[in-house]
Amino acid sequence: MFSLQDAGRAAVDRHERTSLDPDDWQALRKQGHQMLDDMFDHLQSLGTKPVWQHPPSSARALLDAPLPTKASDLAEIHAIFRENILPYGSGNIHPGFMGWVQGGGTVTGMLAEMLAGGLNANLGGRDHMPIEVERQIIRWTREIFSFPETAGGIFLTGASQANFVAVQIARCRKLGRDVRVTGLSDESRLVAYASSEVHGCVPRAFEMSGIGSDQLRRIPVNHLGQIDVDALEQTILRDRQEGFVPFLVIGSAGTVNTGAVDDLAALRRIADGYDLHFHVDGALGALGILSPDLAPLFAGIDSCDSLAFDFHKWGQVPYDAGFLLVRDSEWQRQTFASDAAYLSRATTGLAGGDWWPCDYGPDLSRGFRALKTWFTLKTHGTEALGNAMSANCRLARALAGRIEREPTLKLLAPVALNIVCFAYVGPNGTAPASVNSHIVERLHAEGRVAPSLTHLNGQPAIRAAIVNHRTRQADIDALVHSVLTIGSQQDLPQC
Ligand SMILES: Cc1ncc(COP(=O)(O)O)c(C=O)c1O
Repeated sequence: MFSLQDAGRAAVDRHERTSLDPDDWQALRKQGHQMLDDMFDHLQSLGTKPVWQHPPSSARALLDAPLPTKASDLAEIHAIFRENILPYGSGNIHPGFMGWVQGGGTVTGMLAEMLAGGLNANLGGRDHMPIEVERQIIRWTREIFSFPETAGGIFLTGASQANFVAVQIARCRKLGRDVRVTGLSDESRLVAYASSEVHGCVPRAFEMSGIGSDQLRRIPVNHLGQIDVDALEQTILRDRQEGFVPFLVIGSAGTVNTGAVDDLAALRRIADGYDLHFHVDGALGALGILSPDLAPLFAGIDSCDSLAFDFHKWGQVPYDAGFLLVRDSEWQRQTFASDAAYLSRATTGLAGGDWWPCDYGPDLSRGFRALKTWFTLKTHGTEALGNAMSANCRLARALAGRIEREPTLKLLAPVALNIVCFAYVGPNGTAPASVNSHIVERLHAEGRVAPSLTHLNGQPAIRAAIVNHRTRQADIDALVHSVLTIGSQQDLPQC
């Protein structure tokens, strides 16, 4: 119980200035409310500002300051933020942002971040309610993806980490828990499979795991960008004949370049036939299952052994909020749990609790990512999130249709979800492909819309990934208009 004596001690602490709490809470309150209001103003007026603008050298110089050894006034620091940081973000909250695959965030998620920061919870373990919030999210994700009661899950920074953790789990399933101690032997000869369109973090996961990215066979894709299932099976058979040990197949629920969704039911059958762990990288697409019109695209996702996805992309939860769902939480324990004297568990009290996340993933200290996710899901509901995803896909289809009607533009890949890859080809189809990199750079500098650049079959492509719940038809129109204008201003070879 907190006593008057404790209060007195706290007062002494403050007197000696060892506490970092403010002396004047009233002034802090005023300043805090000001900071919050400023942020609301910024979010409310996003559309009137550039998506992105080049940070001036003066702003960068301010962040090349000496290490502060003495205190500064919070209001002054906030003024530096307001003038020099806030206007020069990467723009992914803006309705005109269509680059890479980045979520737009939610205001309620932002408020939850503040509450989580205040609570400063460490979700490695112990018996406290923040852990229960994460468990609630695990139960909800089980429900979203129709996973069984045995399923577990864990928040991680993002899908890159979630894919890496899945590789570790699959390795342990195949070789047994001892591989954690013995490491891979020359006889292990593990091999895994994914399509040639798999995200770069997957081969990197193989590099980090010590298995090596050469052991990840990249299988060709069909005309829809989906893994070629026949080629996959032939490769597995060949590997087995050559003495390799196939252990994992990775499907994509939304490939990074074009948003293609692999035939997940077929991958399940192959995994069953060859005793493979079946993992799905659903970083950008999996949450599309929340939209009734998109859900059929993900048929079979409920059958995978593990699923990586990002609440911070289509789930609109502020960064970062990656997640791994695992069909049997015991596989997680086998891969990560260990005894450490300093983490001794009690049957009751603070060191109690029957679910310590540090036993289910690689992190010990973990932040409260679950709270902003819980707030976002509770305040908006899954229907609104699903509707926003459907709307993104409608915009993507409308953009694809418009591109096909424009003689100077060319659609470069089928549009399965919310990603549109296209190129400016000029009036006679003679524009050099390189003009597209220039167009994207100019679009970024102009600041009305911000797609990104990718390469398809070695050719530069303008890539609009429509992820933000704030993006509207006017933003798509602005994209097409600006691409046509900039393209027509280029010095193109004449026919
Ligand atoms: C298909 C796919 N997988 C994995 C990732 C990596 O996710 P994260 O950036 O959350 O680590 C991405 C990122 O865009 C992605 O699109």
